[in-house]
Amino acid sequence: MTNTTQHDTILVTGATGNVGRQVTIQLAEAGLPVRAMTRRPESASMPEGVEVVRGDLADVAGLDAVLTGAAAVFLMWPFHDADLASEIIGAIARHARRVVLLSSGAVHDHLTPEQHENAVGRSHAVVERLVEASASEWTILRPSTFAANTLWWAPQIRAGDVVRGAFGAVPMVPVHEKDMAEVAVRALTEDGHHGEKYPLTGPQVLTQAEQVSVIGQALGRPVRWLELSREQERERLLSDASFPSSFVDVLLDGYAGMLDRPRPVVTATVEKLTGHPARTLLDWATDHASDFR
Ligand SMILES: NC(=O)c1ccc[n+]([C@@H]2O[C@H](COP(=O)([O-])OP(=O)(O)OC[C@H]3O[C@@H](n4cnc5c(N)ncnc54)[C@H](OP(=O)(O)O)[C@@H]3O)[C@@H](O)[C@H]2O)c1
Repeated sequence: MTNTTQHDTILVTGATGNVGRQVTIQLAEAGLPVRAMTRRPESASMPEGVEVVRGDLADVAGLDAVLTGAAAVFLMWPFHDADLASEIIGAIARHARRVVLLSSGAVHDHLTPEQHENAVGRSHAVVERLVEASASEWTILRPSTFAANTLWWAPQIRAGDVVRGAFGAVPMVPVHEKDMAEVAVRALTEDGHHGEKYPLTGPQVLTQAEQVSVIGQALGRPVRWLELSREQERERLLSDASFPSSFVDVLLDGYAGMLDRPRPVVTATVEKLTGHPARTLLDWATDHASDFR
């Protein structure tokens, strides 16, 4: 039973991204009124029935128009800082009753935002606090590493059978965007999720090197990891025009920190909320095999 009526519009930000696109598709499939926000509506290619609107979270003055009539918002934070957080979240809270925030497993309740070593964790921690303070109803999703990050290896896998990278021994719990989206849709459309912070993971802890071989399994051919030093990987990423250069050190610092921390833990949240086990990386790689061919 949902408490989102047929007349309530759900605004999805980051609607062309990994998770937002799935949220949009799943809401549309459920027949709910969904408004997808993008900076480039002309290339968004959204499912039929979705209202596509031009919007940019950095253009705070333009947000009122995008938010008019929205009862719930899926908020994806696209920035590596929280400079605009107060204005953006204030605008959202003036319109929408309910906010579901895609945050990060890098946020820890026992730390203040400033105490988070990683820039991503720091900005998400600030955004979380503002959402908690401003929205009438809120739910925070704290996913672990996205399975979709392995798409960064797609050019190397398409070109051969070796993935070069640093920190191959870092253990992660890759989570499928479909599972994150299913949880988000429940939180957007059902009662009972207000005030919850959901840690979302996949079902298996896998090192980066192991993830590469799982992708090979989905493709039906062996693919292996080849370890680079941090400096070699830094240079490789900086020379990759498709990778945002401002994110290179943030990412490598994040991996270095993960090597020092305790092994990540698998959570049961996806299964509890969706009623099915979290999808494996093999499921994800099978869904995305064409991206690697
Ligand atoms: N990757 C991970 O392992 C991981 C783990 C935990 C948490 N997270 C968090 O998850 C989020 C990323 O989610 P994702 O992978 O689904 O996103 P994504 O695929 O990286 O997509 C980026 C989206 O951001 C939108 N965007 C960029 N700048 C924008 C702006 N100024 N205003 C409005 N929209 C803007 C883009 O939309 P248009 O170009 O269409 O406008 C696009 O839809 C980040 O907050 C990240 O910190 C990621």
